[in-house]
Amino acid sequence: MLCALFGMPKLTVKDLNIRGKRVLVRVDYNVPMEERDGQMVINDVTRIKETIPTLDYLIEQGAKIILIAHLGRPKGKREPSTSLRPVANKLADMLCRPVAFVDDCIGEKVEKTVGLLQPGDVLLLENVRYYNEEEANDPAFAEKLAKVADLYVNDAFGAAHRAHASTEGLPRVIAKRGGQCAAGLLMERELKFLGEELEKPEHPFVVILGGAKVSDKIKVIDRLLDKADSILIGGAMAYTFKLAQGRKTGKSLVEPDCIAVANAAVQKAKARNAQFLLPSDNIVATLVDTGKLNKKGKPVFYPENPRLNTQPDIPDDAEGFDIGPETVRTYSEVIRKAKTILWNGPMGMFEDKRFAEGTFAIARAVVEATHKNGAKSIIGGGDSVKALNNAGLGDRVTFMSTGGGASLEFLEGAVLPGVAALTDR
Ligand code: 3PG
Ligand code: MG
Repeated sequence: MLCALFGMPKLTVKDLNIRGKRVLVRVDYNVPMEERDGQMVINDVTRIKETIPTLDYLIEQGAKIILIAHLGRPKGKREPSTSLRPVANKLADMLCRPVAFVDDCIGEKVEKTVGLLQPGDVLLLENVRYYNEEEANDPAFAEKLAKVADLYVNDAFGAAHRAHASTEGLPRVIAKRGGQCAAGLLMERELKFLGEELEKPEHPFVVILGGAKVSDKIKVIDRLLDKADSILIGGAMAYTFKLAQGRKTGKSLVEPDCIAVANAAVQKAKARNAQFLLPSDNIVATLVDTGKLNKKGKPVFYPENPRLNTQPDIPDDAEGFDIGPETVRTYSEVIRKAKTILWNGPMGMFEDKRFAEGTFAIARAVVEATHKNGAKSIIGGGDSVKALNNAGLGDRVTFMSTGGGASLEFLEGAVLPGVAALTDR
């Protein structure tokens, strides 16, 4: 059973009577791609891999499987670099069975191909965002998508925060016809770990938050402050909190507009007796003009002379890029004792080796808590997942979300339209 946090419990794929039925499955195959020798190549298959349990189950149950997905933001244009064809090939490799592909997501060609599907067959449709009607959640377009389906399964947690035709309008059409709409197994896991597990966490519950902006995370901070025993702040976001304390932040990225909300969060933590920690040291560097311009015609700066700053203030000419070793020690001590850990956002600019150690050290502490202290470690998607994978520790935590924006919105407590549209139990 699946408890959707802020609504009725929803059906899952295991509740459906599937045999011989045409099951339209919304997946999030919005994977990072790169052009190599004139071909689009997939850089990270995680989002594809994570849908395999649902697909294996549907195959085993004898469903006729029709997959629908988006890639990039082609905005209604047939942009070849955002075709899902390479994903069909990759999926076939991973499933060890053929995956049919149609270069459209509605119309006669789709209907014909679906008519030929046998139980256990898999078909992937072309990028649904080749139609503007998708993002507009156009009802007539949703009707066209629904034409080939008896049942609907949503396994696209990463796109569930979008009220688009394939995530919201389509299940509404199928439900109106009396068809069932259920969560896939990945969707179920995402809602369990980012929802239920954090609703009733085992204590101590430690929340690690990083990333560039306080404004992106303030709602999450506010909500998690109701439950967390400790909040550890890293990333450029920490400098706005420092600014709020009246510290000098040099050339660091700050949001002066967020000083009031930053102070309010610190006050809330105090009132709740929760620990709220900011970095006590950092790695700073001096930005040097390279004399080059970026695509937008703006000068490109490069951080030079990386060095440790142990002072509460950051020197006027310097910018903070990572947490320092003392902060790593303090944070690791807290993490080591945790029973539940939520991590969202890197501690520094880990893409540059010189500023990666803070993030990687925190990743090691999270893994250690997981294996030595039996902590449940939940990684909230986006850059933190990338950081963990870069550190080679991706498979050493309890759960890594496939969502970026969706995880953040869900952690904020928002009702995701893609979940709300599924059939209540
Ligand atoms: C994502 O990658 O975050 C999801 O696939 C949603 O994509 P979008 O941000 O372009 O809507
Ligand atoms: Mg996004």
